[in-house]
Amino acid sequence: MNDQAEALRNLVRQDEGAPLFRAEPAETRPTRILTITSGKGGVGKSNFTLNFALQLQSQGYKVLVFDADIGMANIDVLMGASPKYNLYHLLKREKSIEEIIYRGHNDLQFIAGGSGFNDLLSLTKEELEYFTEQVLSLSGSLDFILFDTGAGLTKESMTFITAAEQTIVVTTPEPTSITDAYAIIKMVHSQEPGIRFQLVVNRVTDRKEGQQTADKIRMVSNQFLQLDIPTLGYIPDDANVSKAVKRQVPFSVLYPDSAATRELKELVRRFEQSQPAAAPTEAEEGGGVKRFLSRMLKFMK
Ligand SMILES: Nc1ncnc2c1ncn2[C@@H]1O[C@H](COP(=O)(O)OP(=O)(O)OP(=O)(O)O)[C@@H](O)[C@H]1O
Ligand SMILES: [Mg+2]
Repeated sequence: MNDQAEALRNLVRQDEGAPLFRAEPAETRPTRILTITSGKGGVGKSNFTLNFALQLQSQGYKVLVFDADIGMANIDVLMGASPKYNLYHLLKREKSIEEIIYRGHNDLQFIAGGSGFNDLLSLTKEELEYFTEQVLSLSGSLDFILFDTGAGLTKESMTFITAAEQTIVVTTPEPTSITDAYAIIKMVHSQEPGIRFQLVVNRVTDRKEGQQTADKIRMVSNQFLQLDIPTLGYIPDDANVSKAVKRQVPFSVLYPDSAATRELKELVRRFEQSQPAAAPTEAEEGGGVKRFLSRMLKFMK
């Protein structure tokens, strides 16, 4: 494993003058990497990730959704797409990253999940180098990479969450979902105190229920972790979400005037305002992509 870590370290080394791969990207954007996670499963992460990504895109950002849910990969199903290639083919050096990026509704770019993530932690040196180079080639061309992770504390999810700079924790008002959300916050915070958390309460009956749910998580996080977790918003329980899932079209595309979509739009506005301004050099330095890759190293030692 040390060999792999060394190879990756060399590739992401900041102080090397020579370009690492191909031509310079046409644009240079400081890419932000986010994970979307939850303690309990089935709380609405994938639907949130997909529709959040679409809204960000409609605000003019370049977004890529990465389905990092190993067990229940389903971003593609939510879009009625059946991509032939996924991360597995990239890891095995069968396809380039461009070849595994698909276009969904409104041309949203996404990488389908697959069995590949299991293999990520046991790659050969050559496979790891290829993976790293390919992911680095995304630097500068995207504003956001969103990882939809599986629920709970799996090793793979933890790798992504702790390597990314920020994570959105999705919960519902149910007590089991709240306690599990707190458990994941506590675990991530203890491993990587620098990760920024933001909360989304999904499937609320009304704003009051959303507020009460957010308050509970905020209070325990404040008290026991000295951590302030801002809330991005509350998405109502809306029958249109399930209807859209059945039609395999993202709810914000199929039902742009639904209560869920309206709240999501507000939420995206708050998210935009919450983003720290990028340092002028961030894009040239590989934005968040380099940082993300070098942080993944910790788990490969
Ligand atoms: N705001 C909502 N209103 C009504 N139903 C919702 C809402 N959000 C999600 N759902 C329902 O919950 C189901 C599960 O959502 P989703 O697949 O996004 O959850 P998940 O957290 O990604 O699940 P998993 O942990 O299995 O990956 C949806 O198919 C939909 O029926
Ligand atoms: Mg999911």
